[in-house]
Amino acid sequence: MTEDLPQEIKTDRLLLRRWRESDGPLFAQMNADPKVMECFPSLLTREESDESMRRICEHFDEHGFGLWAVEVPGTAEFIGYVGLKYPTWQAWFTPCVEVGWRIDSRYWGNGYAPEAAKASLEFAFHAAGLNEIYSFTVPHNLRSRRVMEKIGMTHLQEHDFAHPILAPDHPLSRHVLYRISRSDFARS
Ligand SMILES: CC(C)(COP(=O)(O)OP(=O)(O)OC[C@H]1O[C@@H](n2cnc3c(N)ncnc32)[C@H](O)[C@@H]1OP(=O)(O)O)[C@@H](O)C(=O)NCCC(=O)NCCS
Repeated sequence: MTEDLPQEIKTDRLLLRRWRESDGPLFAQMNADPKVMECFPSLLTREESDESMRRICEHFDEHGFGLWAVEVPGTAEFIGYVGLKYPTWQAWFTPCVEVGWRIDSRYWGNGYAPEAAKASLEFAFHAAGLNEIYSFTVPHNLRSRRVMEKIGMTHLQEHDFAHPILAPDHPLSRHVLYRISRSDFARS
């Protein structure tokens, strides 16, 4: 029952919470930052960013979890998102739940993404009862791959894939795939 799931998650330094209207302008600022968007096909306009936020909120309504807004209590009300998502496209490993992240570049390098991602995995395997979680990115997104490694995910070496929403010859088409199971997580 999605309504029984916790609404927010606290970690040592972070609050993972549902989104507020006031997150919109800060999210749009991040989505217009070329550093943050380096591994995505384009920067987002304010309208596209608002639409993305709307879809994230809809995912929470449908599944009871999603890409949580991340707050550093007492320091910053919104530094980006980290959390869980059902991809909307098809590949051999879908339907599945992915763990993903996007942090404002002013806050990079503090270990915030792995801290929030570990809490998201804890939620996935315990509160939500999921058995495995995937993550993927372009091969040269070394920051993101480092987060995947730090939270105990395994690179499925034989399973690089062409992202289905991009043309096969798009420079960002090729993706690396990582996975963690509930038992891997329990051992980590
Ligand atoms: C990926 C991202 C969420 C990481 O967030 P973060 O809170 O800064 O994460 P961390 O503090 O753990 O820092 C990332 C790690 O990558 C390492 N790193 C940074 N640049 C690197 C590089 N060029 N090569 C290899 N590793 C690198 C850092 O040293 C750090 O690892 P360490 O703690 O072992 O030293 C953040 O960079 C981001 O939002 N990037 C843009 C959006 C994005 O690409 N999202 C993922 C899409 S799949």
